[in-house]
Amino acid sequence: MKKASIILDKDFIVGQIDKRIYGSFIEHLGRAVYGGIYEPGHETADELGFRKDVIDLVRKLNVPIVRYPGGNFVSGFNWEDSVGPVKDRPKRLDLAWFTTETNEVGLHEFASWAGKAGSDIMYAVNLGSRGPEQARDIVEYANHPGGSKFSDMRIANGRKDPFGIKLWCLGNEMDGPWQMGQKTAVEYGRTAREAAKMMKWVDPSIEVVACGSSSTEMPTFGSWELEMLDECYDNVDYVSLHRYYGNPTQDTPGFLARTMDMDDFIKSVVSVCDAVKGKKHSKHTINLSFDEWNVWYHSNEQDQEIWKQDKWNRALPLLEDIYNFEDALLVGSMLITLMKNADRVKVACLAQLVNVIAPIMTRNGGGAWAQTIFYPFCHASVYGRGTSLSTLVDSPVYSCKDYDDVPYIDATATMDEEGNVTLFAVNRDMKEDYELTVDLRSFGDLSIKEHILLHHDDVKAVNTEENPDNVLPTQGPGGTVDSGRATVKLPALSWNVIRLGK
Ligand code: AHR
Repeated sequence: MKKASIILDKDFIVGQIDKRIYGSFIEHLGRAVYGGIYEPGHETADELGFRKDVIDLVRKLNVPIVRYPGGNFVSGFNWEDSVGPVKDRPKRLDLAWFTTETNEVGLHEFASWAGKAGSDIMYAVNLGSRGPEQARDIVEYANHPGGSKFSDMRIANGRKDPFGIKLWCLGNEMDGPWQMGQKTAVEYGRTAREAAKMMKWVDPSIEVVACGSSSTEMPTFGSWELEMLDECYDNVDYVSLHRYYGNPTQDTPGFLARTMDMDDFIKSVVSVCDAVKGKKHSKHTINLSFDEWNVWYHSNEQDQEIWKQDKWNRALPLLEDIYNFEDALLVGSMLITLMKNADRVKVACLAQLVNVIAPIMTRNGGGAWAQTIFYPFCHASVYGRGTSLSTLVDSPVYSCKDYDDVPYIDATATMDEEGNVTLFAVNRDMKEDYELTVDLRSFGDLSIKEHILLHHDDVKAVNTEENPDNVLPTQGPGGTVDSGRATVKLPALSWNVIRLGK
């Protein structure tokens, strides 16, 4: 068996993990809302039409915050369309996804759903086709107690207490040519600054996220962040990062190494934020909101076919990636990367939550089930809270198309208030099991309480409605602890959660 080792120390910490790094995302896109969280007439639907089977799965994921209502959708969205009596709400052409938005589910309904799911809302305002004025208005509608046009409108619409939404996105991916109202960095930076000022004058308790470049692959990446922040640095709290990976060439080692890119991406954006801080002699530190991340590529061709046949319909089955076992491994590594950067990444959203590039799938009128990626997200969200520990990993490495020195063992660890430690590790090796030694001497007497393992012999194995338990976590081989050193076995190609306690 090959060997790797890790040194942990209770005093060597990266930072506190903000629970919002286990956020997710529901966009008015495809069957995320209609046929996903909402399906009146479904046998599990509640009095508002929300599917209870879906809520039960979301609750298992323990999602503290959900970004809403987009995404690309938000750049053409009029928030006023989504409030008031449902029968009076307009049907709109959604130019982001070429469907018709009926506005049956709007802010009030989504807030009810989020309450049932145990999540707060991260609300995105439209800075594409609209501007600071409408951004101010929706903050007044959502958060002002009453006695003004929009807060009284909310009360008249049946909601006396403010929604109290604390986190707001200033638009979405505004450097993308696919975006309604695409802007240059300077145009966007000024718009974001004025929107943030007005929104915070209405409610000073809110925090706002400025759009970073929509991808590292954009020619604007880097200069966008620099120029945009030059305009709005002191008015915003976070910069967004978005990143999706795929494996179209069926190169599993290369695919599993993509978190090397994700880590570089995070460090680059931190550098730019801090460079602007230095330039401006500012005392304010901007942190990161990685508010779209996932694997996304399986459904690309299928979506082109759907649009050829069926533009403008409601709830087209778009972006319905069926995730396999290797996708779950990469999602595990992406979670490890977020935890490792917990000092600067304070918000992150798995994009998305239901049906649309999602851990949870449904069939209209049928069942709801967990995709492979559900499991690493669930484990990290449930056990990866508390303090992120600096994790010194010594592992054999490999080279692939884009990277050299990729460690076979990708790992991080967290510690809770009682001093319990959880180790998260992906073994990227296609063939070899690893014996991992973990130096735990500074924690006192710890023993292995549980080893959760996700492994399948077939990297392309998937879960379906008929076979939902094909890729399922099992009890791992565990190991021993001797004189403060744990020894555990990490099977080839596996996601591992090792829980250590007194
Ligand atoms: O999550 C799907 C889409 O990906 C979002 O709408 C957009 O922001 C990104 O390009």
